[in-house]
Amino acid sequence: MIVTVSRHAHFNAAHRLYNSQWDLEKNEAVFGKCTNPRYHGHNYELIVHVTGEVDPSTGYVVDMKWLSDLIKIEIEDRFDHKNLNEETEEFKELNPTAEHIAYVIWNLLRPCIPIQHQLKVSLYETPRNYVAYEGQ
Ligand code: NI
Repeated sequence: MIVTVSRHAHFNAAHRLYNSQWDLEKNEAVFGKCTNPRYHGHNYELIVHVTGEVDPSTGYVVDMKWLSDLIKIEIEDRFDHKNLNEETEEFKELNPTAEHIAYVIWNLLRPCIPIQHQLKVSLYETPRNYVAYEGQ
């Protein structure tokens, strides 16, 4: 029996969308307000989905307490209340779009999730805008 278990998490972070190959005018044309040099913030809602065979001895795919602790240590402690561009190694060079943030989160979590399970990350940047990444 294959089941997907999902865990919601949350972090607040500031960012600025910016391509260092372009001048400010081009950045403003492409990213609009999101390239404000003084940054802006989002309340990011993260959903981590793990899909796999239910372990007959526990009845779990993975222990949700373990998953929640993993997300806290690997993601929330790393990104919550941070300026992603200025204060995180991951986004020193990488433009912190929702797409790239989901990609980075997936890569931080993947080595910690049992190899036989599938991992998908959904990231809401606003209540209406979200992205999903599952490793392709
Ligand atoms: Ni933004």
